[in-house]
Amino acid sequence: MELFRKKDLSRLLSERAVREKTYGFFDLFLLGIGAIIGTGILVLTGIIASTQAGPAVILSFGISALAAIFIGLCYAEVATSIPNSGSIYGYAWVVLGQFPAHLLGWTMIGVYILSAATVANGWTGYFAALFSDFGIEIPEKFLMSYSQGGIVNLPAILIVLLISFILTRGSKESKAINNVMVILKLAILVLFVAVGIFYIEPMNWAPFAPFGASGVFAGAATAFFAYLGFDTLATTAEEVKDVQKTLPKTIIISVLASTTLYIIVCLILTGVTRYSNLNKPEAMTFAMDLIGHPTVAMIISAGSVVGILAVILAFSLGASNITMSMSQGGFFPKVFSKMNKKSKSPNFAILCIGLITAVFAGILDVKALANLANIGSLIAFAILCYVLMKFRKMYPNSIGGFKVPLYPVVPILGIVTCTFLIINLDLMSWISYALWLVIGSIIYFAYSKKTIAV
Ligand code: ALA
Repeated sequence: MELFRKKDLSRLLSERAVREKTYGFFDLFLLGIGAIIGTGILVLTGIIASTQAGPAVILSFGISALAAIFIGLCYAEVATSIPNSGSIYGYAWVVLGQFPAHLLGWTMIGVYILSAATVANGWTGYFAALFSDFGIEIPEKFLMSYSQGGIVNLPAILIVLLISFILTRGSKESKAINNVMVILKLAILVLFVAVGIFYIEPMNWAPFAPFGASGVFAGAATAFFAYLGFDTLATTAEEVKDVQKTLPKTIIISVLASTTLYIIVCLILTGVTRYSNLNKPEAMTFAMDLIGHPTVAMIISAGSVVGILAVILAFSLGASNITMSMSQGGFFPKVFSKMNKKSKSPNFAILCIGLITAVFAGILDVKALANLANIGSLIAFAILCYVLMKFRKMYPNSIGGFKVPLYPVVPILGIVTCTFLIINLDLMSWISYALWLVIGSIIYFAYSKKTIAV
């Protein structure tokens, strides 16, 4: 049936551009950490602790890390077997057919838009804290969405538009800038740990799980956001040196390194003050002020304001790249892959993505946004684990590269953990995702079906 017509693997591979192998382990590791560490740890930790998990937020981060590791392993195998930078939608086109590929690509565009919006929305907290340190108070109604009692989150809107503008100039996030941002982000987290560790009051860890197991699980579903970004590593498969070894090793080490850091930060944040005080986006700055270190608080705000920008940039770029690549495949109108002559970037796609991201970032709150990004990514990742199993059956002799250990236990565990986290997301996220799929399906039947290049 046409809906499930598959793209031939050898054809997909032959259509790839030949890319230079530029990434070794260390570069790839920094790229991964650059995309992974952001709003999840800097903003969501305090919100999850105060509203869902209490000090047991460390368990929430541990559970979602498990899911990230299973998915990461499966991603590594699929990405080394079907190495193309079109990401998950390319894999689905080969294995499941054009309609599922369309919906998955559409889902990932939504995920990347919402991730960028989440990060921008959370960034506002540190931005406002930094301004406040210099005696400038931004009126609260311009820092919060309508649902939180404000009008819009204006800084979030402006930063998204600014970043889109930068992207249209064709300035790619260079390795050097990324590395500086990564070091900055790691430095502020280490600073927070080094100072905070001396102010822990173990009494603050009790009760450990005030909202019970269901709170810890709901917290895990939200905390999964903190690991998003490891998937972007798989899309570099064509450019990695010794990809079979380097890619899986980097995915696993990036997730393990961030998990370790996240758990230490959570322990300190919930150790220095009561979890109930942490319901604010700039919780780490707040904690440092509370224990009498305003200068450290200011350094953390400044570092977060700059460091988080890299994540917004990475996800906005991700969304426009998938849009562009789907347009090249005939799923969207050609205008979305039209390159600007001067900047060699798909400016129309970048601007549309930027506008949609800005609207979401301005009118929703950070937790709702993160949950929306999570539901899409968890569904797409569960399907990716299934794609892996189906691919092995369809192409048993594929030369491929890395193979997941303990097959089929790992992909099955990937599906189980994703499903578990999805179940723990709120109803609103489910409904919104269903709506997103309806819009995607309308686009497919009204347009893509007639224009897809086979
Ligand atoms: N993992 C990324 C973050 O936490 C999306 O900002």
